[in-house]
Amino acid sequence: MITLGIKRIQINKMKKKPQIFSNSLSYKKNGLLYFDNISCLDLAKSFGTPLYCYSANEIRNNLEIFKKSISPFKSSIFFAVKSNFNPLVLSLFAKEGIGADVVSKGEIEMALSSGIKSENIVFSGVGKSEEDLLFAIKKKIFQINVESYEEIEDILKIQQKYKKKKLNISLRVNPDVDANTHKKISTGKFEDKFGIPITRISKIFDKFNQNDYFKINGLAVHIGSQITHIKPFDVAFRKLRDLTISLKSLGYQIEKIDLGGGIGIVYSDNNTIDFDEYQKIISKYFGDLDVKLLFEPGRSLIGSAGILICKIIRVKKGEKNNFLIIDGGMNDLIRPSMYDSYHEILPAKITKDEKKVFYKIVGPICETGDSFGRKRKIQTLRKDDYVVICSTGAYGSSMSSYYNCRVPANEIFIDKKKVLPTKKMLHPKDLYLKI
Ligand code: LLP
Repeated sequence: MITLGIKRIQINKMKKKPQIFSNSLSYKKNGLLYFDNISCLDLAKSFGTPLYCYSANEIRNNLEIFKKSISPFKSSIFFAVKSNFNPLVLSLFAKEGIGADVVSKGEIEMALSSGIKSENIVFSGVGKSEEDLLFAIKKKIFQINVESYEEIEDILKIQQKYKKKKLNISLRVNPDVDANTHKKISTGKFEDKFGIPITRISKIFDKFNQNDYFKINGLAVHIGSQITHIKPFDVAFRKLRDLTISLKSLGYQIEKIDLGGGIGIVYSDNNTIDFDEYQKIISKYFGDLDVKLLFEPGRSLIGSAGILICKIIRVKKGEKNNFLIIDGGMNDLIRPSMYDSYHEILPAKITKDEKKVFYKIVGPICETGDSFGRKRKIQTLRKDDYVVICSTGAYGSSMSSYYNCRVPANEIFIDKKKVLPTKKMLHPKDLYLKI
């Protein structure tokens, strides 16, 4: 069994030591927490906090595991840029021959400027604007995953207006499958805004198959994110197989099937998808179909490769809680506020014999929702100590904001012991025109 981003040995079995979710994170004998063999305390002191750190090593490990699981198939991987658009992260993927799954003109620009070639870019998204589409078309990207009949009409108009003749289109299918994940990140039911209902796909092939401006030669599906059971994939992939066979029997060309992303990672004591099982269902449904398979993983490649180091601003005693107020806020990491998601929080230094207490770990932002953990039992911590929020590589910094006029966390990238600063810190006053 292979799962991503987790030490095979569950250190926490006896609830004695904290659980660690990245192969790059470990405590050493001196009690210090190390990320890629550099002490988190040193990183915090050198670069300030809150601080996102990414490990190239961990990304490469995750990529190897993913690649291995799809190795029996003719396939390509397109990293979901929305999960993390740090240029060094993207350039690592570029060097590894990985493409980009993008959802806006901005993401296309980030991918290109980080070295990903336009012929390795897939454009997904339910609301691509005409500006987005025109940009993608002019850049000659590999394929556009179209999400509605109306979007194809817009594409046709653009192609005609600019006399563009070559474009690969895949239709993103909404298979009406419940991904069994958080409702805000489920995308595969008919009530969701994503994709073209599976019942309407063949009509679109009928209508647009013969035209001089683009080729519809593929299907795509993405039913949600942080999916931790194989069943929803099994149901969706079976539907996609049936659809493919029926379209092929009608004479339509299906050269590629994009199976999206969505594989969940281990954030707490949850289990997630076993990659052998993933390989098995892909083989079962697509192994004999003579199609190229595309994948758009985000979280499973980058989630465990990032941490957020924060400093304790203050320990506040309340009537019902001991509050650990840290300098990272929901503007840096919104996942706990937005999806009630769990991220392990570890002291950057464990001190022997220190008493364990319950903390409510919160940020400094003026909202009760600005909270990272309700009842976390960890060793007694004090003002100016540091903590590490684990598994924050995916949808951490990419969802950050300037809320409360806070400059979002700085970011560093560690590759083979080299620590590379990556972010230009812009104060909110520099975001606006001078008045
Ligand atoms: N492809 C498409 C079309 C997508 O919409 C997504 C994610 C992916 C691929 C990558 O999925 P992944 O492998 O990362 O699960 N902000 C949320 C997650 C939103 C996911 C959006 N779409 C979170 O923090 O959990």
